Amino acid sequence: MFFSDILTFALLVPAAVSTSIHPHRRQSGLDGFIQSESSIALQGILNNIGANGSAVPGASAGVVVASPSKSNPNYFYTWTRDAALTLKVLIDQFIAGDGDSSLETTIQQYISAQAKLQPISNPSGDFSDGSGLGEPKFNVNVTAFTGSWGRPQRDGPALRATALIAYGNHLLSSGKKTTVKSNIWPIVQNDLNYVAQYWNQTGFDLWEEVQGSSFFTIAAQHRALVEGIAFAKSLGETCDGCTSQAPQVLCFLQSFWNGTAVISNFADAGRSGLDINSILSSIQIFDPIATCDDSTFQPCSGRALLNHKAVVDSFRSIYKVNSGKSSGDAVAVGRYPEDTYQGGNPWYLSNLAAAEQLYDALYQWKKQGALTITQTSLPFFQDLDSTARIGNYSSSSTAYSSITKAVKTYADGFISVVQQYTPSNGSLSEQFTRDDGTPISARDLTWSYASFLTASDRRNGIVPLSWGASQANQVPTKCQGSSATGSYTTPSVGSWQ
Ligand SMILES: *[C@@H]1O[C@H](CO)[C@@H](O)[C@H](O)[C@H]1NC(C)=O
Ligand SMILES: *[C@@H]1O[C@H](CO)[C@@H](O)[C@H](O)[C@H]1NC(C)=O
Ligand SMILES: *[C@@H]1O[C@H](CO)[C@@H](O)[C@H](O)[C@H]1NC(C)=O
Ligand SMILES: *[C@@H]1O[C@H](CO)[C@@H](O)[C@H](O)[C@H]1NC(C)=O
Ligand SMILES: *[C@@H]1O[C@H](CO)[C@@H](O)[C@H](O)[C@H]1NC(C)=O
Ligand SMILES: *[C@@H]1O[C@H](CO)[C@@H](O)[C@H](O)[C@H]1NC(C)=O
Repeated sequence: MFFSDILTFALLVPAAVSTSIHPHRRQSGLDGFIQSESSIALQGILNNIGANGSAVPGASAGVVVASPSKSNPNYFYTWTRDAALTLKVLIDQFIAGDGDSSLETTIQQYISAQAKLQPISNPSGDFSDGSGLGEPKFNVNVTAFTGSWGRPQRDGPALRATALIAYGNHLLSSGKKTTVKSNIWPIVQNDLNYVAQYWNQTGFDLWEEVQGSSFFTIAAQHRALVEGIAFAKSLGETCDGCTSQAPQVLCFLQSFWNGTAVISNFADAGRSGLDINSILSSIQIFDPIATCDDSTFQPCSGRALLNHKAVVDSFRSIYKVNSGKSSGDAVAVGRYPEDTYQGGNPWYLSNLAAAEQLYDALYQWKKQGALTITQTSLPFFQDLDSTARIGNYSSSSTAYSSITKAVKTYADGFISVVQQYTPSNGSLSEQFTRDDGTPISARDLTWSYASFLTASDRRNGIVPLSWGASQANQVPTKCQGSSATGSYTTPSVGSWQ
């Protein structure tokens, strides 16, 4: 069984959903909101994927457009990162829902589109030495975008490998090894080789602003290399670069922790380093069967919880919409406090990530049958319950019940903020204003919808497969810069039968 505690798959069924035909009547309770908004979110994603997506005419088959918005801002492109995060959601939904064939067609078209995109020469470089795989975005007709941009961005190949491995493992579990080897492995192998070769070079962060080393990128790369080793093995293949580089990537990851918070970027002038980047990292590397390891920044780890507090607190006093809220109350959350892009506002996906990390942690504690409050995590817990003390609390204790209840209430609070600022038709743009919560910036942002689905799935106890975090949590005693040079082979996707 891949998933446990599955409460409902109702949200997986897009049948009753069409924002344009049936106006969405918002239900007052949080549960009702989550249920109706989940359907809107899934449809919102599908509307933004070519060639049939109703909001993105002109996009090729399997191309995930970031938003239908073509001006202020123009997001009518496909980003490797956003697309991979979105497909990971659809793949997990497909697997959990046991085979909605229309979703599977979309997944397979996405994979075909990636096979076409990988070899395209672009301003980040060419395919022959892999450098072109670091290109962040392409035109929606599967051609290179040649305008100036913050490039390369090295998280994309790692995130794409993670998405494709999830679908590949599903096919393997139904005995389709030959198909996986021919249609999926060649794309994944290129991406893994890219990560193993280039992880130790600088690039732009996920917000496309800071050139340096980004926590999110390194965390996503570590995960991809680790699961790449097992995926290769299950196909009778190898990934030597994965094996040689993964421990060093983990080693480097440690250097982003300053003792009390994750400093999300190296080489960022004039920023605190507090950034939702780090919370997005914790949910990206969430492993449902991992213990609360600090080295991999698992959602329930002391480090990740103290960092959650630091990041959330950095937004408390700067947004007018947060006035009147006390420490321990959920608030509106943005990307990083110094942000000025489009006004520097709260983002829907930031609030949803803040909730999701806590749902992940709740899942991990339940799985472990216990919760530990350490010196590191104590300040996080004391915000929620001033009587919280360092200790180990078995799931049968009353303290465990009251602490986990407080964490669940806090997590739900971040979704309630989203509910408060979601228009009645359920559309999720990129941001909502810091002064009064009016939706702003790109409309119907694919990533906003994807983050809604992952947060609501985790809240319902629907989790992805393990990626092997607990077998890959040992940090080498000495970090060293390194690289494994790989080869790159033009992929092609044939029949799925
Ligand atoms: C898009 O529409 C065409 C024509 O109706 C159909 O054959 C195809 O399967 C659709 N694609 C997806 C991903 O649903
Ligand atoms: C692809 O899209 C780009 C950007 O819109 C456009 O400039 C180019 O002409 C298109 N190429 C093809 C082959 O349609
Ligand atoms: C870590 O960084 C945060 C955010 O910039 C800062 O508030 C904190 O003082 C730093 N902690 C240490 C131990 O330097
Ligand atoms: C909690 O349990 C762990 C593992 O049994 C132990 O190492 C640790 O010292 C305990 N912590 C406290 C605060 O009792
Ligand atoms: C949803 O409502 C918002 C705000 O009223 C509006 O801007 C947007 O166009 C609507 N979206 C759809 C799909 O009707
Ligand atoms: C490369 O790795 C070394 C060892 O972890 C680290 O000190 C260095 O900052 C890294 N450089 C980049 C650009 O990743």
